[in-house]
Amino acid sequence: ASKMAAPTKHALSLQILAECGTTKARVCKMKLPHQVVDTPVFMPVGTQGTMKGVTCEQLKDLNCQLILGNTYHLGMRPGPDTLDKAGGLHNFMDWNRALLTDSGGFQMVSLLKLAEITEQGVKFESPYNQKEMLLTPERSIEIQNSIGADIIMQLDDVVHSLTTGPRVEEAMHRSIRWLDRCIKAQGRPHDQNLFAIIQGGLDKDLRIQCLKEMVKRDTPGYAIGGLSGGEEKDKFWRMVSLSTDHLPKNKPRYCMGVGYAMDLVVCCALGVDMYDCVYPTRTARFGCALLMDGQLQLKNKQFANDFQPVDKDCVCFTCQRHTRAYIHSIWNFSTVACQLLSIHNIAFQMRLMKNIRESIMEGRFPEFIRSYFKDLYPDKN
Ligand code: GUN
Ligand code: ZN
Repeated sequence: ASKMAAPTKHALSLQILAECGTTKARVCKMKLPHQVVDTPVFMPVGTQGTMKGVTCEQLKDLNCQLILGNTYHLGMRPGPDTLDKAGGLHNFMDWNRALLTDSGGFQMVSLLKLAEITEQGVKFESPYNQKEMLLTPERSIEIQNSIGADIIMQLDDVVHSLTTGPRVEEAMHRSIRWLDRCIKAQGRPHDQNLFAIIQGGLDKDLRIQCLKEMVKRDTPGYAIGGLSGGEEKDKFWRMVSLSTDHLPKNKPRYCMGVGYAMDLVVCCALGVDMYDCVYPTRTARFGCALLMDGQLQLKNKQFANDFQPVDKDCVCFTCQRHTRAYIHSIWNFSTVACQLLSIHNIAFQMRLMKNIRESIMEGRFPEFIRSYFKDLYPDKN
């Protein structure tokens, strides 16, 4: 029987191409209105309708199929009126592949100290005009409908992953109520896919309760939220594993805010299909290059006369054309250095995900994991 999900009930279909026989990893084709996306996929973050230092053309050259934007930032600038006039963000930023927008609550709570969460929504002071603003689930969806991304996220009540006590339970229940409000407010179900976001902190029972309630809502996909905030890896990975155990197989699973190579490898083994993180591009802006066996701080003096490419195994523009010494030498004088590193770091993430997909397709993902960890911790073997 075909594993294809029923078409056009939602604007998404997921075709499972291969499953690992040992782990929960899978390779899928996720059909979205603007792009067929190969999963597991890493989504670079272009918060404001641009990837800092990287053009859309360059993203296409890097084989990015799906990128992420943020409702909070885009709702402020350019704002929904401009987005409506531009015919949505795809048109406005000239990106004709897939887009996903996060709902805004998480960014607000993590960026603004003054944000206050009530049952109505997230109240905050605008950093642009100091006016008091309220982001409700309905408003978040309305803005995301104007942005027009292929995948939109529910407004959720996110607490830091190290929070304990009744606040975690409150946030979980509120996220379910806000999901219902988002589903009601969703104006474009035919061409935008609303994903639920599982909350519940590091508490197994709360997670399961949340999973059961949200799976009942039968959204086109599910995100695992509230993790990757500095908790122990063991606890983080257990929550992810528990989540994929309870999520339907025929829908995409998205682990939010995850982008360290090790976490990508492990979470793919746990059956996650999608990831996003600012880390690769943010760390590039601090002079840091990602490599399979660790990272390089190219601002360090030791690279002044290092004429190797950033990464000898990488075929990105930066590694084909430039040396570590060049990037080191122009670092303080030109933003080009930072652009070159951003390109490499995105290429690194794309290559890692491609290697993961190919190893699953070829039935050798367990070997891939072993060799990945062996390279990362050579003296532990
Ligand atoms: N980004 C990283 N984690 C989260 C989360 O839990 N919720 C939302 N909305 N965005 C996130
Ligand atoms: Zn490179």
